[in-house]
Amino acid sequence: MIVLGIETSCDETAAAIVTGDGQILADVVLSQLDEHRPYGGVVPEVAARAHLENIDSLVAQAMAEAGVGFADIDAVAATGGPGLIGGVIVGVMTGKAIAAMADLPFIAVNHLEGHALSARLSERSRGDNGANLEFPYLLLLVSGGHCQLLIVEGVGKYSRLGTTIDDALGEAFDKTAKMLGLDYPGGPAVERAARNGDDKRFKLPRPMKGRAGCDFSFSGLKTAVRQAALSLPEGPLQDQDVADLCASFQAAAGDVLADRTGHALDEFLTRHPRGSALVVAGGVAANATLRRRLNTLAEARGIRLIAPPGRLCTDNGAMIAWAGIERLRALGSDAAADGLDFAPRPRWPLDPDAAAAAFAGVKA
Ligand code: KG4
Ligand code: ZN
Repeated sequence: MIVLGIETSCDETAAAIVTGDGQILADVVLSQLDEHRPYGGVVPEVAARAHLENIDSLVAQAMAEAGVGFADIDAVAATGGPGLIGGVIVGVMTGKAIAAMADLPFIAVNHLEGHALSARLSERSRGDNGANLEFPYLLLLVSGGHCQLLIVEGVGKYSRLGTTIDDALGEAFDKTAKMLGLDYPGGPAVERAARNGDDKRFKLPRPMKGRAGCDFSFSGLKTAVRQAALSLPEGPLQDQDVADLCASFQAAAGDVLADRTGHALDEFLTRHPRGSALVVAGGVAANATLRRRLNTLAEARGIRLIAPPGRLCTDNGAMIAWAGIERLRALGSDAAADGLDFAPRPRWPLDPDAAAAAFAGVKA
């Protein structure tokens, strides 16, 4: 089986070709960082236009790199939501057009399901003898748009244990960086600066730490960083101040992640005593300090921490193609395929039965 995957829900335009046994034949990602850098964040209209300009040539490039034509492909999977709607429309229309022209099934993939199943793709392509990541596992999804804890029970079967009630963690990294005059995107810049910093210099809050449940909140932490910066002597911030603030912020974020994920692990292992893995995905999963915290947490409970390689953690087409493959396998071709009347979804929770978190708005 060979599937074309298309991803356009945020600021990466991506296309990939993946086989049923988990080989990534091509994986092309065009980041729009330069377009959004002047604004210090993703501008939806700018993103949609950039997707539209690039998606056709990216699909052609992926197919050429993989050495496949439309006749070799078994299905087209495109992110159908959730995300910035202008971008999602571009990817869905492209996917539908190819499916109609080549007479292939079209699969609208939930972007979050792409992230959720990406570790099964990376484990499969890594293992020499078909090593695989079995269901169920606990997923911590931490990106610029999402911060959620979910039990992945199977394809299409998710149980959400917690979500952010305000900002996503990546967003908090990005806003912290912007306040401190660091580069965009903020996560890598904050992590770099924090290496030379004293993480105990500023006493920042740990929102939600110690509270029952697994929800997150980061807006108070962001405000505290601003106040700490304002409390310093007037004039430009010194490098050491920035480093100490970044280190203190990252330590606070790590404490919160460890606390909330610890609660989720306890709940997961109560429901599934033989559950074997904590998976972390999304752009923030690239952060080495946070990964170390999560690794310690998982080891203490005797389970593995799995973090897919960076390319599969951030937005990409391979995870969308793979989610399409998983859906085809689990549901069969007829049930997995969506009609060409599928309407792109700005909101699309993985667990529609989860109680809405107070104030969570569209982040849920
Ligand atoms: O998954 P992603 O590429 O895009 C979506 O948001 O869907 O995640 C991007 C986010 C940004 O907020 C970025 O600042 C953050 O991931 N990020 C990091 C690191 N690298 C990227 N945050 C903390 N530490 C990092 N090393
Ligand atoms: Zn994403």
